[in-house]
Amino acid sequence: MGYERFRTDASPRMAVNRDFPSHPIHPRVEHHPVMTISRLTLQNFRNYPQLRLEAAPGFVVLSGENGAGKTNILEAVSLLAPGRGLRRAALKDIAYEDGSGDFAVAAEMGDVQLGTGTSAAYPERRKTRVNGAAVPTNDLAQWLSILWLTPAMDRLFMEGPSGRRNFLDRLVTALEPDHPRNCTRYDAARRERNRLLADDYMPDSEWLDALDGQLVRFGSAAAQARLRITQELNAMLEGTDDGLFAAPRLNLEDGGHHDPEVLLHSLKSNRREDRAAGRTLKGPHRADLTVFHAAKDQAAEKCSTGEQKALLFSIILAHADLIAEQRGSRPVLLLDEVAAHLDPRRRAALFGKLSEKGGQVWLTGTEPGLFDDAPDDALHFRVAEGSVTVR
Ligand SMILES: Nc1ncnc2c1ncn2[C@@H]1O[C@H](COP(=O)(O)OP(=O)(O)O)[C@@H](O)[C@H]1O
Ligand SMILES: [Mg+2]
Repeated sequence: MGYERFRTDASPRMAVNRDFPSHPIHPRVEHHPVMTISRLTLQNFRNYPQLRLEAAPGFVVLSGENGAGKTNILEAVSLLAPGRGLRRAALKDIAYEDGSGDFAVAAEMGDVQLGTGTSAAYPERRKTRVNGAAVPTNDLAQWLSILWLTPAMDRLFMEGPSGRRNFLDRLVTALEPDHPRNCTRYDAARRERNRLLADDYMPDSEWLDALDGQLVRFGSAAAQARLRITQELNAMLEGTDDGLFAAPRLNLEDGGHHDPEVLLHSLKSNRREDRAAGRTLKGPHRADLTVFHAAKDQAAEKCSTGEQKALLFSIILAHADLIAEQRGSRPVLLLDEVAAHLDPRRRAALFGKLSEKGGQVWLTGTEPGLFDDAPDDALHFRVAEGSVTVR
């Protein structure tokens, strides 16, 4: 069943196939917005009591000393996507320390206004608005695709699967806006199942059956979306190795749980073990994304740090192409401190690739000189002690 069946005039337009209906309650928009932030406003966000920044399509370059507040701005933009943002921080840590405990991020994107933040009464609950109307935060994905690369992601291939799963889920969300909703519902059903299994008495198996049904419905939908995007990315990445940025090959390891029957069987046959463990041991929540350097046929974790970074660039660039193809607009990219770690040739090549395709790219660096090869129409800002000025 296609998404078209469920689309109402109130939802943004995009050519995405979906398996589950969504129920958008946004005010009407006349056209699918181009994903470019034209104005960003922060209130009580990290070290910014107040900030207003006028942006434009293309490069938005933020340079300034360590601790000036560059990453904070990218983090603010990253909260215009569902999830916990690029630091995965607790909401209460985001609010300005000397403020009233709440924070707000607002962005104008053409004639669409996105806003998200907390209130002093509920500092741990994020509320989101589109054109002034309250919407579930997961719905942000319908309006804006945002992807980021940060220094913390240098360890993506070396650490456990949860970071890679989160990374993959961001890639999927940017293409299939229903994905976070399916993940949220799967996680909620799984928590409920864990609670039920933990109860002393033998749980009512009809209730458990019903919960397993929920896990299968939302879990296999999420796993299918991951598999779909992994395959589409592989197709996009084929033959893109240009000697500067190695092309990866991706592999989703999900235990076959994208198949509802496999997932249902796994849940049913593991109830005893799950009860003993006090949690659901197998399912899409344990999936992993493995990445290989295609030309070398080598696992990413065995590659050099520079090669690993190149693999990530290649994924992000191919993914941006995929978004452009499927959603008709390039995503917003947040590249934190990436310029400093590239040699000048690769830096120029990256800037070239990013600018030739269009789309909005936010970049940070300590030295303005790192951006000498940025396109002529790049916006350059100086960030210093919580204030931002045009360079
Ligand atoms: N909740 C907060 N309230 C006030 N300042 C904060 C808060 N969280 C972080 N900061 C400050 O933000 C600064 C770091 O900003 P950041 O964007 O990471 O710098 P950089 O320019 O190096 O990327 C630090 O000085 C830190 O003390
Ligand atoms: Mg930083």
